[in-house]
Amino acid sequence: MKTVISEMLSQQINKELFSAYLYLEFHNILEDKGLKGFAHWFMIQVQEERDHALLFYEYLHHNNQKATLNAIEKPETTVSTVMEILEASLAHEEFITASINDIYEVALREKDYRTKEFLDWFVKEQGEEEANFHELIDNVNLLGEDSRGLYMLDRELASRVYVAPSLTVS
Ligand code: FEO
Repeated sequence: MKTVISEMLSQQINKELFSAYLYLEFHNILEDKGLKGFAHWFMIQVQEERDHALLFYEYLHHNNQKATLNAIEKPETTVSTVMEILEASLAHEEFITASINDIYEVALREKDYRTKEFLDWFVKEQGEEEANFHELIDNVNLLGEDSRGLYMLDRELASRVYVAPSLTVS
């Protein structure tokens, strides 16, 4: 594996852990508002992001590469409404998609087809992540951000179940 790719994969570990930290902050805000269903949904998102980070970490070691573990940035805390949280989450996922696409491009250029194949799962996963946030934004728009609309959606989101990633590194 070329150094440029292993460095990008290490940076991706940091970005995924930052994603977990950002969503933990959103959980923090939502729990504080008493929106237990939304908070629960974001806690599962935190677990998924941790899983993503560990997959990149395991993939590096599987290829005899040591990861570089850098400091994780403080999460953004200026959002307060549910819609602001969802829009910030969607923007963040678009940023992550672009980051994975960048590694994908370099992997293709360097003929690192193993990394390209590993990243295929993440390309699809990012499509799902963005679609989830689009759907939540649509739902909040439809039901309204008043207490009745949020209450209904909050009850529905409480049923989200954690599912371990279908990708394994071996
Ligand atoms: Fe791991 Fe939500 O991107």
